[in-house]
Amino acid sequence: MEHVITSHMLHLYMEGANEMKKMAVLLLFILLAVAVYSIPKQNQQAAGEKRSMEVIAHRGASGYAPEHTLAAYELAKKQGADFIEIDLQMTKDGRLIAMHDDTVDRTTNGQGLVKDHTLSQIKALDAGSWFSPDDKGEKVPELEEIIRHFGTSIPYYIEIKNSDSEMVRKLVEVLRRHRLIGKNSHKGQVVIESFHAKSLIAFDKKYPDTEIIQLGDPLKMNIEEVKTYADGVGPSLNHLSETFVKRAHKNGLAVHVWTVDNRETKQKLQKWQVDAIFTDFTKLAKE
Ligand code: G3P
Ligand code: CA
Repeated sequence: MEHVITSHMLHLYMEGANEMKKMAVLLLFILLAVAVYSIPKQNQQAAGEKRSMEVIAHRGASGYAPEHTLAAYELAKKQGADFIEIDLQMTKDGRLIAMHDDTVDRTTNGQGLVKDHTLSQIKALDAGSWFSPDDKGEKVPELEEIIRHFGTSIPYYIEIKNSDSEMVRKLVEVLRRHRLIGKNSHKGQVVIESFHAKSLIAFDKKYPDTEIIQLGDPLKMNIEEVKTYADGVGPSLNHLSETFVKRAHKNGLAVHVWTVDNRETKQKLQKWQVDAIFTDFTKLAKE
């Protein structure tokens, strides 16, 4: 009997203890809720806010210096760019150089197709005078020269300008040699971009850990397909809408927009939660 009473009392005591536990948890929950709601709204936003848009120096700080020269890249770094962008062309002797056009006409004092020039012929050209007399003497840099110059002090955002498998092969060779891709490589040092899905797919197959960005017109981009090999999209500003940005994000793709050269557009894209912008005016974009 004594045993029955004791066990009954113990049961009641335990029930009471469980109720107390429940009450304690409830109280704790209420206190937490009160604490969260007491935080000023501004701080709540800051806690949940996305990090600010990254700035990709489009062809270097090309608004202030001759594009794709060491001077433009140096300036971009100095102005706080998060990446320096390098467009790739290949010379007659198979060397990768930083140049946008497939001819040397616009950005040097030479003439003709890059692929008809050897590296030493390209090196003899002046890549600064077309921009300003003060920049006379600037040279066209080789990709490898840029990498040797900057090392891992700033990440590279490299555009494969054609769908030729030779360009991808050479690029891989250079990046591997400098341990920017592959086993035991420096992480986050390289982003690969292209309009040519074929080149990106070839790159992604070998180096799936490298960030890949598919460039294109937002109206023509097939997000479902792109997400099978890319980490993000690089839409042109033309035809870009907030709906496109949302759709890309919903599909797990980052959005890097080109080319953003004024404050109003930058602010609009910030509101749309765009992840990065290409700009010729690094300093302006970093404000
Ligand atoms: O790479 C983004 C943007 O640079 C693509 O256009 O012609 O300037 O290489 P483009
Ligand atoms: Ca480019």
